[in-house]
Amino acid sequence: MGIGKQSDGLAATPPMGWNSWNRFGPFVSEQLVLETADAMVESGMRDAGYRYVVIDDAWQESARTDDGDLTENRWAFPHGMRWLSDAIHDRRLSFGLYTCAGTRSCQGYPASKGHEPRDAKRFAEWGVDFMKVDWCHTQGMNGPATFRTWSDAVRDSGRAMVLSLCEWGRAQPWTWAGTVGHMWRTSSDIADTWASLVETLDRQVELAEFAGPGHWNDPDMLEIGNGGMTDEEYRTHFSLWAILAAPLMAGNDIRAMSDATREILTAPEIIAIDQDPLGVQGRRVRRFGDAEVWARPLAGGSYAVAMLNRGDASANVVVRWDEIVGEKGSRVARVRDLWERADIGERSGYYDRTIAPHACAMLKATFATG
Ligand code: GLA
Repeated sequence: MGIGKQSDGLAATPPMGWNSWNRFGPFVSEQLVLETADAMVESGMRDAGYRYVVIDDAWQESARTDDGDLTENRWAFPHGMRWLSDAIHDRRLSFGLYTCAGTRSCQGYPASKGHEPRDAKRFAEWGVDFMKVDWCHTQGMNGPATFRTWSDAVRDSGRAMVLSLCEWGRAQPWTWAGTVGHMWRTSSDIADTWASLVETLDRQVELAEFAGPGHWNDPDMLEIGNGGMTDEEYRTHFSLWAILAAPLMAGNDIRAMSDATREILTAPEIIAIDQDPLGVQGRRVRRFGDAEVWARPLAGGSYAVAMLNRGDASANVVVRWDEIVGEKGSRVARVRDLWERADIGERSGYYDRTIAPHACAMLKATFATG
């Protein structure tokens, strides 16, 4: 059995969890991870669907063991990775860990080139459920061949692990990674700024057809709650990742998040769009000036619609039903506002609304049949 879209049953919907990198960079420790896991339970994040607790780069000791294994920095992880993995599983969460395909990790730690089966096995022994494989220090290496090796290594490790490819879209992974891993980065690292958010968004246009259950485009982890954008911009970030069927990896300090951040990250009707079982990634159906409309079909026949204003002034954004369901589709839709969690009513032909600068409305449109 293969992985990804050849279906090992993992990642039927986009993976959800938390990753240490965006907020904490290389400053990871057992204490941080345990406190975060507890906060995920207490804040309702786990119940909202966030499951993987992923330690990114800089967990490693500066050299392999005498036996040649990757090993954890014991100062930061005094009880070891197996103990931490058990503690995460005790909280009914899953455990994720990082390595890099090259000769060194991006932070300069030992990495996995030439050690793929051994390292996948080591991760499996530690009870890892999600493996992120990065792409620093890979001069001369071939992306598809390297990640095929990883895919085999994960499959042969004896443990079901989500394989998250992080080669930044270099070798157009959407064209080959669907049968290799469960998700692949499509672009370079996101930053906690509006400019980075819209630049990342633009890199996702045209990629929708390559994603589906078991294999997802990954526009990178969330910056929501990290302080560089407004809450309105963070709502837009979340709306767009949901319309894109993107993995939802929170990247903030879960232990100390504001109520506004928690409400964004746990918004039930937005998460339901991201996790829709049909698994069809949204497309940009219209762009006029700073206004954009994105839409994706949902299981059961409704559509999710995002109305985005990229500009610095309020703008009227129009959604035309024929642009979503085609000329022959119904002209009447029942409309629901998914952030307000309120029905708007029936609209014939189109729906329009004034959208604040950098804001994004999220709708569900249900068309009459027959
Ligand atoms: C790369 C990846 C990031 C993160 C860092 C860690 O930049 O793209 O997501 O993993 O490395 O060093």
